[in-house]
Amino acid sequence: MAIRVGIIGATGYTALETLLLLLRHPEAEVTVATSRGEAGQPIAAVHPILAGRMSLTVDEYDPAKVAAACDVVMCCLPHGASAETVRQLIEAGVRVIDFSADFRLSSVAEYSRHYGIDHPWPERVGKTVYGLPEWYADQIAAADLVANPGCYPTSAILPLGPLLADGLIRPDDIIIDAKSGVSGAGRTPKLNTLYCEAAESIAAYAVGNHRHQPEIVDLLRRFSGATTDVVFTPHLVPMDRGILSTIYVKPTDPARIDELESVFHVWQQHYGNGHFVRAVQHLPATKHVAHTNHVQMTVRRSGDRWVLIVAIDNLIKGASGAAVQNMNVMFGRDPRLGLS
Ligand SMILES: NC(=O)c1ccc[n+]([C@@H]2O[C@H](COP(=O)([O-])OP(=O)(O)OC[C@H]3O[C@@H](n4cnc5c(N)ncnc54)[C@H](OP(=O)(O)O)[C@@H]3O)[C@@H](O)[C@H]2O)c1
Repeated sequence: MAIRVGIIGATGYTALETLLLLLRHPEAEVTVATSRGEAGQPIAAVHPILAGRMSLTVDEYDPAKVAAACDVVMCCLPHGASAETVRQLIEAGVRVIDFSADFRLSSVAEYSRHYGIDHPWPERVGKTVYGLPEWYADQIAAADLVANPGCYPTSAILPLGPLLADGLIRPDDIIIDAKSGVSGAGRTPKLNTLYCEAAESIAAYAVGNHRHQPEIVDLLRRFSGATTDVVFTPHLVPMDRGILSTIYVKPTDPARIDELESVFHVWQQHYGNGHFVRAVQHLPATKHVAHTNHVQMTVRRSGDRWVLIVAIDNLIKGASGAAVQNMNVMFGRDPRLGLS
């Protein structure tokens, strides 16, 4: 039996990417897609790329109807709005993958501090699995709710996690310099994503206070078991999609600075049997992973630091691909279905 999937927030970028991935998934079928403003429209009128490929009509959001028609719901809404919707869907008895940050942090106080709102469903914060199947597959398989990771955090946690868990790098001296394509900000218009602001220009933003910083720190602390902090500076670059993160770390033992093979060895041990995370010898670029669920990462030495360079597609491994991977794990399918 095909997995019946619902999409909430159907007009957004991550919703579209999820629809496109599910079109080629051999064991999943989109049964519902809902939108606040486009109910009654054919999905191809909302996303013309789907013309002739998907015949769904967009519905109004009704949690009971969605739950009855689905085995799992992809909730592609902004934070805040998502938590309340997720609560309604879980209470209606359907499993949910939440794309927003609402259930990623382990502390309600941290959430309120960084997101500036009271959490709509505080009882679930800290009790929801973080949807990184490379680390938490068993919990994801059993979960009613999965907090799909953020895009920047994915590009930082995957390379850093094993190095911290194995004690190879210092947890107190990590600098993440990250660049994202404009789709990372979503389809909802904002001043800094207008063409004339973003084209032919690169700019840092949210320096020292980006909302993904506490998520990265929260996860890295779990791996290191120690107080961990990061300097994290995101940049907007004039391309549609992709994230390139350049991460500066120090080996715990400075005498090992030339042992780059020890980094490759740890990555190989953790990810060697997986499908999507690849340690590579070349310098990764966003084009090497565009439109795929793959992660490419490598290491070089510069002075007394190791420089980790990581590329992902923000909309695929950073959002919709990770969600489909999580769905496959939740329903006991091969994690690669719909993603190869
Ligand atoms: N873009 C990325 O690279 C990326 C990566 C990782 C995670 N995420 C997360 O994924 C979620 C969706 O991101 P996105 O890029 O797809 O955003 P988006 O393109 O702006 O789409 C979000 C959709 O949510 C609905 N929506 C917006 N405001 C709402 C509100 N106040 N109440 C209810 N529904 C609302 C709208 O759909 P309707 O008008 O059809 O209802 C909108 O099209 C966000 O939480 C984002 O942080 C995004």
